[in-house]
Amino acid sequence: MLKPAHIPVLLSEVVEGLAVKLGGRYIDCTVGSGGHAAAILEQSSPGGQLLGIDADPSAIELAKTRLEAYSNSTLLINDNFVNLRDICTRFGFSPVHGILFDLGLSSIQLNGDGRGFSFQHDAPLDMRLNPDQKLTASDIVNTYSERKLADIIETYGEEKRSRQIARFIIRERPIETTFHLARIVEQAIKSPRGKIHPATKTFQAIRIAVNHDMENLEAVLKQAVDLLGSEGRLVVISYHSLEDRIVKQFMQRESKDCICPPSTPICTCSHTRSLKLVARKVIKPSPEEVLFNPRSRSAKLRVAERITVPAESYAMVENLNSLPRMDTQGWRRSALVHRLRRTFMALQSECF
Ligand SMILES: C[S@@+](CC[C@H](N)C(=O)[O-])C[C@H]1O[C@@H](n2cnc3c(N)ncnc32)[C@H](O)[C@@H]1O
Repeated sequence: MLKPAHIPVLLSEVVEGLAVKLGGRYIDCTVGSGGHAAAILEQSSPGGQLLGIDADPSAIELAKTRLEAYSNSTLLINDNFVNLRDICTRFGFSPVHGILFDLGLSSIQLNGDGRGFSFQHDAPLDMRLNPDQKLTASDIVNTYSERKLADIIETYGEEKRSRQIARFIIRERPIETTFHLARIVEQAIKSPRGKIHPATKTFQAIRIAVNHDMENLEAVLKQAVDLLGSEGRLVVISYHSLEDRIVKQFMQRESKDCICPPSTPICTCSHTRSLKLVARKVIKPSPEEVLFNPRSRSAKLRVAERITVPAESYAMVENLNSLPRMDTQGWRRSALVHRLRRTFMALQSECF
């Protein structure tokens, strides 16, 4: 049977978000079957370079075929993006003009490639992106305590009936297939089917737990910013609220000079912003795109740009910090320094 291909989501918005330029260097951290990567290479050629990463070895094989025409300017690495910094150091691939994350799974993985990602296809409970990883969905479903299972389903699936589902799972163990698990969740929930299948949230939760999706995303965003050159773009597409929250909060935090709690009268965090939000609002697919590719319906794209602070500005702040301790119109020295530093940063970002 012909396997359905993956249609890249928000394709033109990604190319625009990355501000792809001729001869630019880009990293696609979730290269999948190479849909976005092909568009990036097309726009950046001649001279463009792309490093494509995917944790799933079969995705890398698909990308290799798709990007064959650009084999001289493409480097494809089968690894987890959590190792982004190390990968770039190993291959000397930095600084770059743009980094893309198109999170989650491809249609090929979801449409039943035998690894049990979907409740719509019967398969063993595996759900590993990387087949060399030890932990499988079966381990979680069949060995975790009721409490731990319920916590996973609640936290990563945002499922209100997590305790009930976990109780049913424990009672029915061992559970070895996706159809079996989906049936148990349906029985546990009992309510009539709504817009989404009752097992959707439970499957999402177990997949996230198997692949440590949230921890990996939390860990990689800062690495990505550090690899961007001045005005380099960070583009992230997420497909559920947990991922989007991490991305949104990260971008907001990194676009502020002070991240002290609002109740703190004087800044003590010494945080300086590294990003500028390109689009304040999240970008979503058009109704036409959703009609053409229903999988895109939950996509949310966020874009930020790297700002770099010239060495002389740091020197200026350092000089201010070395001022003798004094009171100026009731202001403490640190408050004065902080205010000056903020003004300076604001002026400086205007110049970019
Ligand atoms: C939505 S698909 C990307 C599709 C791709 N943009 C395209 O146009 O073909 C997401 C891909 O990210 C990969 N992935 C998910 N988490 C990953 C991680 N932590 N490290 C590396 N790859 C990951 C999946 O294996 C999958 O191939």
